[in-house]
Amino acid sequence: MAKRHLLKELFQDPKGFIGSEVLVKGWIRSVRKSKAFCFIVLNDGTCQRNLQIIADQDLSNYGDVATMISGFSVAIKGQVVESGGKGQSIEMQAKEVEIIGKVDEQYPLQKKATSFEFLREHAHLRSRTQTFGAVARVSHALSFATHKFFHDKGLYFLRSPIVTAQDAEGAGEMFRVSTLSMENPPKSEGKVDYSQDYFGKETFLSVTGQLEAESYAMGLGGVYTFGPTFRSENSNTPRHLAEFWMVEPEIAFAHLEEVADLAEDYVKALIGYALDNCKDELEFLNFRPRVKGGKLGEAPNGKEGYLEILEHVRSSEFIRVTYTEAIEILGKADKKFEFPTNWGDELQTEHERYLTEIHFKSPVIVTDYPKDFKAFYMKQNPDGKTVRAMDLLVPGVGELIGGSEREANLEPLLAMMEEKGMDRGPLEWYLDLRKWGSCPHGGFGLGFERAVMYVTGMSNIRDAIPFPRTPKNAEF
Ligand code: 4AD
Ligand code: MG
Repeated sequence: MAKRHLLKELFQDPKGFIGSEVLVKGWIRSVRKSKAFCFIVLNDGTCQRNLQIIADQDLSNYGDVATMISGFSVAIKGQVVESGGKGQSIEMQAKEVEIIGKVDEQYPLQKKATSFEFLREHAHLRSRTQTFGAVARVSHALSFATHKFFHDKGLYFLRSPIVTAQDAEGAGEMFRVSTLSMENPPKSEGKVDYSQDYFGKETFLSVTGQLEAESYAMGLGGVYTFGPTFRSENSNTPRHLAEFWMVEPEIAFAHLEEVADLAEDYVKALIGYALDNCKDELEFLNFRPRVKGGKLGEAPNGKEGYLEILEHVRSSEFIRVTYTEAIEILGKADKKFEFPTNWGDELQTEHERYLTEIHFKSPVIVTDYPKDFKAFYMKQNPDGKTVRAMDLLVPGVGELIGGSEREANLEPLLAMMEEKGMDRGPLEWYLDLRKWGSCPHGGFGLGFERAVMYVTGMSNIRDAIPFPRTPKNAEF
């Protein structure tokens, strides 16, 4: 058989294909029968658009073709013709229809409006729906845009290790990696003897690649990691995953302002790339007909005009405030918060969303947080109370990015480690970076699935990653 044409190719230059014979392969979205022919709507996953195909009753296997239903996989050869139908420029007149794979009445995606929750339980099939096809293609575009953005900025891609012995964020939310017997582990003085474990010490899945990125930034000038990270925090929220992907750029000879500029440019580059390259997907996600109750078709964030908002964000300046200013704003807010907003309290999701969605109605970069609830590596301010941290908050999501300038001097870094009760042993190599050729440097981490949520408007992070891992759930 001839080479197949992807629908993506056909719709890139529809007029150019008129009159040509093409072969397409994909899945049936629907079949509508009339007396002498049927309309087949086909999608092959390569783009948002469907191809309408007319199959006449003179096809040799018309009897079978007319009984096809949504979900069948087929190969169809035919001629591309101009379409009279509105909203489509071309359609196809079928010459041969080969049925490749059938579905029966057990096929779970038969129902028209299928809830996102139902689809999560059928995550192995959901890429065939219009919504999850769109989200998957936008995710691809965002990952491509990430590599392009940092490459263009002169940063190099770094593969940071996934197995680690250090709790870099100090949050103690790590998954253990071990080959020891769980029933009968070797013991010494009543405790598990990890010296007999695979790596000869206690090891975990990494919560961040930052410390290794710092090491390479101070050799290459700038690097970024882009890979899976793991947190066993018990947060069953629409914004937390146990396994998520993080993008962590790190730049040398840079202070916080430059790090914040990079974060702002990066977020705009992501939005811009998606708007320029995923128009059909974003329009579909934006204008899906609403169905109540979290069904397929719900408008993103319950808002109209989401695309216009993204378009605006792409060309506007992000707001920048200090933590102290943010606390003042929250103190004056005429909204009752569940959690307190005194200086020294952590900003909770409700506070972050108030700032970005209600007060500023814009992405906001909050800087200079109290040192107590931030990681040990952050650059300390002269006030002795705050650190040069930055979080980038966006509407609908809250915290999209967390980052900081790093403490580049050995003494204050050691003092902070002591204050936080940290063991310097596993971090001796990290301290070396401050002993020899140290320089101001910093970076940030962007939660990739949160970026997918932000750009697609999906409201649950479980729908922004193909196979979500959350507490009590590691299906597929
Ligand atoms: O703010 P976090 O914890 O920062 C770090 O890990 C630093 N090492 C980054 C750096 O400076 N290089 O995490 C960064 C981002 C958050 O802003 C959030 O978007 C995402 O990672 N994130 C999660 N995403 C999904 N599920 C979780 N459980 C997440 N925890 C953090
Ligand atoms: Mg954070």
